[in-house]
Amino acid sequence: MKSKASAPGKVILFGEHFVVYGVKAILCAIDKRITVTAEQIPEDKISIKSNIGKLEIPTNESITEIDSPLKPFCYLASKLIQKYNSKSGINITVESEIPLGVGLGSSSACCVAGAAAISQLFEETSKEKILELAIEAEKTIFQNTSGADCTVCAFGGLMEYDKKKGFSKIDTESNFHLVIVNSNIEHSTDAVVSNVKKFKDSNEEQFLNLCKKESELINKVMKNLKNKDLKELGNMMHKNQEFLETIGISNEKLRQMINVAETIAYGAKITGAGGGGCIIALTDESNLEKTISQLRGKNYDCFSVRIDHKGLDTF
Ligand code: PMV
Repeated sequence: MKSKASAPGKVILFGEHFVVYGVKAILCAIDKRITVTAEQIPEDKISIKSNIGKLEIPTNESITEIDSPLKPFCYLASKLIQKYNSKSGINITVESEIPLGVGLGSSSACCVAGAAAISQLFEETSKEKILELAIEAEKTIFQNTSGADCTVCAFGGLMEYDKKKGFSKIDTESNFHLVIVNSNIEHSTDAVVSNVKKFKDSNEEQFLNLCKKESELINKVMKNLKNKDLKELGNMMHKNQEFLETIGISNEKLRQMINVAETIAYGAKITGAGGGGCIIALTDESNLEKTISQLRGKNYDCFSVRIDHKGLDTF
């Protein structure tokens, strides 16, 4: 028995960091995917093969001891083997189009596609149940995840998220192109988030004011997403980037990438935690190719994506 599932990566369009302090964020699934194939095998082991390495454990191994980015797969496989009292082991193969560790949701896409592929070996499971499992699995490596990434990977499209109200899908036909530029500087989201907390603690009033401004900006973004006014959305990205610069999550390389992108694109900003990782530049058919060639001309690593409307897909 073999089963296959795939899930998209994601970007944060607006609101990273401020979302930690209650401001709304806007996330978008992108059309770069992770595909997970799961297969029952007679041997008593869980075996995982991916482009970041291999891992093999006996089916009864305690997963608390495992120190590997592949841990969520071990959690999922061992949980489901126990739940269904299975006598088989599981082989898992992961294929990825999403660069790792740069804020593009590769681990959430792994958790969502992994939860779906492995569950499907045993029974048909609803998307909601798969999402629940995926978030549990992601918590084995990011304890404080809000679940926002897994949610957008599972359902696709654009989503607003705030800590109090949770998630809701944004109904829009916007179909812009984003150019993702990878600084190839790995970042630790936890470390950047704790630096922002230090900034907040020593600049309470300024930070509060920034949260208010970010919140107002995002309300305007919601209107402009509906009107599909890319020029205005680009200006708003530029404005959001100024706030991110103020809280100290940018650096020289990210600023240079943004400057180059903005000579052609409608706007550009950091996406995700910052400190490294990626920036996104907003374009449409009219300026997409030119933006890419401008960036590649400066030797930046970039590629274009569109909104993924499908989310989790099973085969
Ligand atoms: O680096 P990413 O894409 O995982 O983004 C982290 C987003 C933050 O707002 C910085 C943290 C969070 O938990 O929301």
